[in-house]
This record gives sequence, C-alpha cells and structure tokens, in this order.
Amino acid sequence: MDLGDVDGEVDVSLDYTGLQRSEQVMTESDTVRDRIAFLRGLRSVRDFRPDPVPREIVDDLLEVARWSGSANNSQPWELVVILDRETLRSLAAVEGYAKHLAGAPLGIVLVMAGEPERVGHETYDEGRLSERIMLAAAVHGVGSCIGWFAGDGRQAAKTLLGIPASRLVRTVLSLGYPDDEARRARPKREQPRKPLAEIVHQERYRDTE
Ligand SMILES: Cc1cc2nc3c(=O)[nH]c(=O)nc-3n(C[C@H](O)[C@H](O)[C@H](O)COP(=O)(O)O)c2cc1C
Repeated sequence: MDLGDVDGEVDVSLDYTGLQRSEQVMTESDTVRDRIAFLRGLRSVRDFRPDPVPREIVDDLLEVARWSGSANNSQPWELVVILDRETLRSLAAVEGYAKHLAGAPLGIVLVMAGEPERVGHETYDEGRLSERIMLAAAVHGVGSCIGWFAGDGRQAAKTLLGIPASRLVRTVLSLGYPDDEARRARPKREQPRKPLAEIVHQERYRDTE
C-alpha cells in the first residue's frame, strides 16, 4: 500500500470537515466513496441552531446506541435523553468541558454501570457508544460533540439527574443542527490529522524516530 496516496490533508479553506455541510447528510444513493468520505468527515459541532431534533431521529439514535457492541456483550450503559433547556444549561455549568451543551437542543448523558472491576472494558464501550450515536446523528445531518464532566462535575451531573452514586457518569453528547454562521464566526482552529505514514506500520513496527 502506498501510504502517501491514501492520505489527504483536510482542506480547511473549504470547511473544517473538508466537506460542504450539504454533503454531510447520507443519502440513499450514496456510493462507497461517498460513505467513506462521510465517515471520514465526522467532526465535532459545538454551535447549534435552536430547532429541536425530531423524535423519530432521536429514536433512531437510541436504536443504534442499543446495538453498539460491548465487551462480553455486557451492554453496561443507560442513556438519559435531555431536552429541557434549564437542565441542559445546568449540566453545561458543572465542572468539566461541556459548555457547548448550553446551546444544544438535545443532550444525551451516558450512564455507565460503574463496575470497579471493569473500568477498562466500560471505558472502551463508552467510546464505541459515543461514536455510534454521533455517526447516526450525522446520517440525519445532526451535529454533535462529546463533553466530559470532570472532578466534582461528575457527581454534580448525577445529582442533577437523580443518577445513583454507584454509576459512572463522564460523557455527555451535545446534539443539534449545526449553526454554520456561528461556527464561521469562531476563530479557526485547524485540527489536521497525522499523516498515515506517521501512524501505520506494515507487517512490523518500525521505529521512525
Ligand atoms: C474521549 C474524548 C473526550 C472528549 N472530550 C471533549 C470535551 O470534554 N469537550 C469538548 O468540547 N470536546 C471533547 N472531545 C472532542 C475532541 O476535542 C475532538 O474530537 C477533537 O479535538 C478532534 O476534533 P474534531 O472532532 O472536530 O475532528 C472529546 C473527544 C474524545 C474522543
């Protein structure tokens, strides 16, 4: 495989995803290339329009979430779906990195089982769950961003939502239709990816330093 051929830099002058927004909704006639471009183009959205996400779409996301794979098929998760503006604002204000939740019309808090012996498994499962929900949202043109509660914010989020203390609450997903104007007004933060040549090894690990 020629690594140089398959890697391409994201053209941030076009859009931070390298795709026009209209190209980020999956259509029924998508080709394989379109689908790969769609998967590759998943980026965080932190500015949302106030329009609600329709219930059928939320149901789709939950159905995809339900079918996420997990270690030993233990499915160590529950989800809290939040539409209430006040609750979203309160969660955005707790310690952590989820300020974007304040402007989102929808939040989904991932509630992990919190088994002390399965921290590694649950962390991995939580990542898979998050990514699947984000991709399912993107199929519908709904943008999303991960937010992490940190420090006392984890307990504060649990208290706000009435979640038992034994559970692990770390991740919240902000979801909504992207506000492209607000996004354009933000200072551009280029977030290029490492070239494949830097991260992929053929057959054996080769020290490139
Ligand atoms: C495990 C994990 C935790 C993250 N936590 C936060 C967070 O707390 N707040 C936030 O705004 N973004 C968070 N992000 C989003 C990353 O900052 C983002 O995915 C990364 O900068 C790449 O940008 P992109 O998604 O636009 O490609 C998190 C992503 C991951 C995978």
